[in-house]
Amino acid sequence: MTMPGKPKLFVTRKLTQDVEDRIAAAYEAVFNEDDHIMSPAELVEKAQGCDGMLVTATEKNDASLIGALPGSVRIIATFSVGYDHIDVPAAEARGIAVTNTPDVLTDATADVALLLLLGAARGADWGERMVRDATWTSWAPTYPLGHDVTGRKLGILGMGRIGQAVAKRARGFNMQIHYHKRSRLPAELEQGAVFHDTLEGMLGQSEFLSINCASTPETRGLINAETIAMMPDGAVLVNTARGDIVDDDALIAAVESGKLAAAGLDVFAGEPAIDERYRSLKNTFLLPHIGSATLGTRSAMGMRAVDNLDAFFAGQTPGDLVTAG
Ligand code: DGY
Repeated sequence: MTMPGKPKLFVTRKLTQDVEDRIAAAYEAVFNEDDHIMSPAELVEKAQGCDGMLVTATEKNDASLIGALPGSVRIIATFSVGYDHIDVPAAEARGIAVTNTPDVLTDATADVALLLLLGAARGADWGERMVRDATWTSWAPTYPLGHDVTGRKLGILGMGRIGQAVAKRARGFNMQIHYHKRSRLPAELEQGAVFHDTLEGMLGQSEFLSINCASTPETRGLINAETIAMMPDGAVLVNTARGDIVDDDALIAAVESGKLAAAGLDVFAGEPAIDERYRSLKNTFLLPHIGSATLGTRSAMGMRAVDNLDAFFAGQTPGDLVTAG
């Protein structure tokens, strides 16, 4: 039963201590002490009597889960900028507000995009393995050879906040930025980047491609055999957005054939149960979805989610309200 004056909040995953302390002070909180991933049935059970939920991208809030939530739940605040794991129209249909956590993870995620870009281009994963496995036998002029980054062309798919932060960092490597977007950015945000009104036009220039768009019905599977074929031979692809934007079969085939020289991936379709072929694929630099994983950023994401919840329960419109439209 909800305590008078304190909304009851179900927090589906363990959060940083500062965030949990703030929640414990302001809410009657149901925490996930051992941080296990809950089944839809357990999520529904724990949500009973709750006024709101603070969820993460590890819980699929699809129409069936949302339909099974108790009527007491009036807000789902996700601890993520992406909200492809939430069926927003289904939530709206039940009168449940949805919020996300933009802005606070922009820099951390853009940093990882550059880490992937450099790591994939320079063979950081196999280089590290050579050192650890003691298979590094000598310095040599001709191996192992990576690919130059400085001065190359970088295509950015999804030139929003994170895409622009990637561009800012890449300019430090003298990279020439290309982007494709429905509408052109104003000059102060474009910062000299080359606008392409077609995806094909941008991909044709993308010696490096950074995927930074949201996963939506329009972008799922957008990077596939047909679109990879538009890229220059020997290009490098990095993805810090969502795995399902890329078709695994096409990407793996392109890396195996050398059409793509390398790939750097922080996100995978169906993660953590990724396509097994990635595990032995050469010329790939693979990370376990750590784009926003710094203490400061994860704390800021939690605080932002709680800001949204506080505003909602104070009768205000949360700053990061997500709508289906
Ligand atoms: C995000 O915020 O969307 C990150 O990918 C974590 O889910």
